[in-house]
Amino acid sequence: RPPPYLSRELGYSTNNSAQSLPARSSGKPTLHDFQFGVTLGEGSYSTVKLAKSRVDGKEYAVKVITKSHLIRANKVETAAAERKALIRLNGHPGIVSLHHAFQDEWSLYFVIDYAANGEMQALISRLGSLSIPCVRYYSAQIADALEFMHSKGVLHRDLKPENILLDDAFRIKIADFGTGKVLEQGEERATTFVGTAQYQAPELLERKETTKSSDYWAFGCVIYQMTAGRFVFNELSDYLTWQKVKRVEYEVPDGFDEQAKDLVNKLLVHDPTLRLGAGPTGSPNDPNALKAHPFFATIVWSSLWTDAAPEIE
Ligand code: ADE
Repeated sequence: RPPPYLSRELGYSTNNSAQSLPARSSGKPTLHDFQFGVTLGEGSYSTVKLAKSRVDGKEYAVKVITKSHLIRANKVETAAAERKALIRLNGHPGIVSLHHAFQDEWSLYFVIDYAANGEMQALISRLGSLSIPCVRYYSAQIADALEFMHSKGVLHRDLKPENILLDDAFRIKIADFGTGKVLEQGEERATTFVGTAQYQAPELLERKETTKSSDYWAFGCVIYQMTAGRFVFNELSDYLTWQKVKRVEYEVPDGFDEQAKDLVNKLLVHDPTLRLGAGPTGSPNDPNALKAHPFFATIVWSSLWTDAAPEIE
């Protein structure tokens, strides 16, 4: 049994699943319910493993978080926040679902959707860059997932191609809410320095502030990267990168799709309140205005999650 203080801090009750998750007739799963396979990813406090459930025969990704690492690094809150964010977001096709969360003496286990086609980063690396139909399709899915996430009061705060996974049908699943933030009623901003230099927004660097809009800045960086095959902001050191970010100094390569360029220009805006998608509902830059951008003219939003992915090229 885990030390009681850990159970309390992590919001786990001893033998009850998270309330908004479907109850299992057989109760909370344990390690023995899974047959573990290859390692899918590794972070500082966690390892993600492929695992096959002995209960339903399906494959899952199990995030194993070592308690001693969490405690030593003072990150107990982080794991609790990740679980809370995932529970709030359960059910959207563009975000990994949390199926179960359990723990033993040593570790926490988050059982999440397995995204069989891995990270968007690997796809970009393999192909050099993505075709415009692919960029359009993936950007539309990211826009839809961000709108949902924000409507539930969750900020991702580390959106990047490594955290955008692809499922067996090559649709996106946003993952890794380890730096996620669940906003309280009326809360709009968080003030913890998180993220990855190339995707960090100016307001984070200048005021340690992150809002929904900071996710839209990162989204602009991701669209640029899928299209051009390289970072929009990347210098020889993080310090130099941050200088470019603060001045919003970037160049778009020749041949970059004009409408994609216009969209990126409307996302990579210094003032977070003016970014496309980041405005409150009904304002000229609300999520609907983002979806109405000409780059998305051919997207059928109502069948976005059932339409087949374009040919990957
Ligand atoms: N790598 C990290 N998380 C993953 C997941 N849920 N599916 C596939 N690969 C992953």
